[in-house]
Amino acid sequence: MPWVGGKKALRDEILLRFPLAYERYIEVFGGGGWVLFHKPAGDFEVYNDFNANLVTLYRCVRNQPEELIAKLEFTLNSRDDFEQIRSILRSKVELSDMQRAAYFYQLIRQSYAAGLDSYGAQPRDMWSRFPLIRAASARLQGVIIENRDFEKLISQYDRPESLFYCDPPYFFTENYYEDVGFTAADHGRLAGALFGLKGKWLLSYNDCAQVRELYNRPGIMIEPISRLSNIAQRYEGGKLYEEVIISNYDTTERARQHVQLSLFDSDFCAGEPP
Ligand SMILES: C[S@@+](CC[C@H](N)C(=O)[O-])C[C@H]1O[C@@H](n2cnc3c(N)ncnc32)[C@H](O)[C@@H]1O
Repeated sequence: MPWVGGKKALRDEILLRFPLAYERYIEVFGGGGWVLFHKPAGDFEVYNDFNANLVTLYRCVRNQPEELIAKLEFTLNSRDDFEQIRSILRSKVELSDMQRAAYFYQLIRQSYAAGLDSYGAQPRDMWSRFPLIRAASARLQGVIIENRDFEKLISQYDRPESLFYCDPPYFFTENYYEDVGFTAADHGRLAGALFGLKGKWLLSYNDCAQVRELYNRPGIMIEPISRLSNIAQRYEGGKLYEEVIISNYDTTERARQHVQLSLFDSDFCAGEPP
């Protein structure tokens, strides 16, 4: 599902840095769930986000996908409907969870760049998504879905065998996320919640002085990583977006497992006498 700050482009890099062994997987800032949906299913998985509309949507997808599909079946891709739904969701009107989930799904699908704010005016049909809703429902069956602030969630699920993946709002983008009230001070609150955990954690962030200063501590790995910036490609081809992956464990374990298969000893190089 498209989501502001979604990790579609980084998901392989992130999975490659997971530890080889962990028993509990907790996705703290779930959003569109790009990493959760990309990783193999595990025995104990938690999806969390503080956005109540988003979490209601996830719960309806998991528990009642056919009812959700029935609600979406005859929706129109129209500016008037989009604006009406947006103002209903922003009002205090009481809605059933299923109606709220369907409205929110429609808003994501039809807004510009999934920003929920302005009508996208794109020929996006709804019916082609229905198989994805069913597949997501199947994938979410064993997943615990939470709607908690990150600090409480992290302390609740901390165990030596836990792996937390954290993808918070990036520095300077705090106000991109409606309804959750993430502030600049929350970056420090997150660092405080992560330092001293019994479990392992992996964090993705924009590469900036503020992040480096917060996490420049003994035993913490900060790895710069660049990817093509999707939005900037429109006006500046090849522009890279600089991010960092931060962790409290050695993230090279999995990559080191990928040993090149060879008929010969790996020390033997072409051109060398055997
Ligand atoms: C960068 S997005 C996560 C994107 C996600 N990794 C993906 O691939 O789609 C950050 C998410 O953090 C959530 N969030 C903001 N404040 C939060 C809080 N205090 N506790 C938990 N989640 C929060 C937002 O609602 C948003 O969905």
